[in-house]
Amino acid sequence: MNTRAGDIEPAAEFPIPSNVFAETVTMVEHYTDRLFRFRITRPQTLRFRSGEFVMIGLPNAEKPVFRAYSIASPSWDEELEFFSIKVPGGPLTEHLQRIEPGDTVLMKKKPTGTLVNDALLPGRRVYMFSTGTGIAPFASLIRDPETYEKFDQVILTHTCREVAELKYGQDLVAAMSEDPLVGEFTEGHLTHYATVTREPHATEGRITDLVTSGKFFEDIGMPPMSPEEDRAMICGSMGMLHDMKAILEGKGFTEGSNSAPGQFVVERAFVD
Ligand code: A2P
Repeated sequence: MNTRAGDIEPAAEFPIPSNVFAETVTMVEHYTDRLFRFRITRPQTLRFRSGEFVMIGLPNAEKPVFRAYSIASPSWDEELEFFSIKVPGGPLTEHLQRIEPGDTVLMKKKPTGTLVNDALLPGRRVYMFSTGTGIAPFASLIRDPETYEKFDQVILTHTCREVAELKYGQDLVAAMSEDPLVGEFTEGHLTHYATVTREPHATEGRITDLVTSGKFFEDIGMPPMSPEEDRAMICGSMGMLHDMKAILEGKGFTEGSNSAPGQFVVERAFVD
């Protein structure tokens, strides 16, 4: 569509590319100057497995920039939720952090990813290790009844630099006990363990260090992890992924994928 100089509706300046969904923002919540979440309408034809990611963009260029975002809402939800970092000068997040209800967000049509129940062998417990926005795929999985059908115990860890960055996970878990669909599954089966690395907090330190020292298992009252009983999913910063993967492999865990399920799976928290 051609526009004249002086037009004040930038969203209308660029055509919506074919092969993408154009969805409407329904809510935005800012947590800190680095983190926010937003929800959009869900395309009726979209099917995904809890834990998968999609490519997100904005209709603000002839060829929009797309970035991978884990879907933070469960597969049964009527809307889609995302948890995002705000990167100063970031090609997408610089603009995305300014969206408001009613705005349009673009989404490519094919969800994918390895942080799915299908990529793990059955087990007694599943550990979900996250840092920062890496909690997003787990926000989806811990709201999916299938996760509790597959595992007796679900342990979600979330490590951030500052206390304020934990709020997304805290609100999520607090709301779950009242959730009509998953509330009954989580009672006595979901553990949330949140730690902070750069401020005083009741639980401090990198999760890798807490696992290695054994303090994590003491705190949650579980035995040390074993490949016989336990499964793990890891999502967060590259450093955490690398170090946690090494810890698990040192304990004899093998990595799984969609085509060959294993004892743990890994995916980085994408947007940078
Ligand atoms: P730290 O503050 O000690 O770097 P970021 O905001 O940079 O993505 O980091 C999110 C969290 O991940 C921070 O609490 C950070 O701790 C932690 N982290 C960073 N690198 C590692 C690592 N290699 N192993 C474990 N945790 C890490």
